[in-house]
Amino acid sequence: MENNQFSLANKCYALSGATGALGGSIATYLVQNGAKVVLLGRSPEKLDKKVEELDTIASGKTSAYVVDLLNEEELRDTKYKIASEIGMIDGLVNLAGGNIPGATLKPDQTIHDIEIDDTRKVVDINLFGTVLPTIILSELMVKQKQGSIVNISSMAAKQTISRVLGYSMAKAGIDIFTKWMANELASKHGDKIRVNAIAPGFFIGNQNRRLLTNEDGSYTERGNDIIKNTPMGRFGDASELNGMVHYLLCDASSFVTGGIFDVDGGFSSFSGV
Ligand SMILES: NC(=O)c1ccc[n+]([C@@H]2O[C@H](COP(=O)([O-])OP(=O)(O)OC[C@H]3O[C@@H](n4cnc5c(N)ncnc54)[C@H](O)[C@@H]3O)[C@@H](O)[C@H]2O)c1
Repeated sequence: MENNQFSLANKCYALSGATGALGGSIATYLVQNGAKVVLLGRSPEKLDKKVEELDTIASGKTSAYVVDLLNEEELRDTKYKIASEIGMIDGLVNLAGGNIPGATLKPDQTIHDIEIDDTRKVVDINLFGTVLPTIILSELMVKQKQGSIVNISSMAAKQTISRVLGYSMAKAGIDIFTKWMANELASKHGDKIRVNAIAPGFFIGNQNRRLLTNEDGSYTERGNDIIKNTPMGRFGDASELNGMVHYLLCDASSFVTGGIFDVDGGFSSFSGV
């Protein structure tokens, strides 16, 4: 019999932020490859639309739960529902995130102009929006003694990227949280529970479209600066994250935990010179 370590068939993966640009693309890929998906999001309308779309690829493979990822009680309730209605999950991909204008410094502002409340909100969603679902939903994986969790970090975690202080602090937090959870779960709950992160380079999505492109589709100054610092000379396409997500979720990466993997067209390896 074939032993395909890369198979996703009939595995079941939960995804937060699953109606967003990257999450939506990953959900589609997983279903196209035979997996079942559990979509977690705040908007019932967007979830319904995504379930409908995924059902046209493979009927009955998708479930959805309305949940605010920053609400611990709602998350615990969702965990019980998943346990009783679905049974087990083989992994979780944490894709929720976001930025808000007050937490993004305008080019002519200094650090003293930053909106502290908005900065705190951005840290909440980008850091605790991953911390809470990981801690709560990993209880399901601990019970079954297996599962793979994939977090989403950023280029902004490793070095300063101007203007986005809250986002950078949160993503740096994601990196150490990933290592911390990997250590904690493997050492106390066995070698089949793994936690890794992907650090994407720049992909045009809902959060950064206005920062990177003008109304007419041309790049902003910031968009051009990023392209200049990306050896491949282009932005990523959402589909280019699928391979790394696939690898980290499936058994082919069974000895990989606590890692942070760049998918960035060379951005993080380039000095700018
Ligand atoms: N697009 C890029 O270039 C890029 C680069 C690096 C990292 N990332 C990260 O990838 C992830 C996905 O990015 P994207 O471009 O798809 O963003 P997106 O804005 O399209 O999707 C994020 C989703 O998270 C959801 N969300 C936010 N707060 C929530 C909450 N409290 N409860 C439930 N859902 C909530 C939003 O509703 C949205 O659907 C984010 O963590 C982002 O920081 C993106």
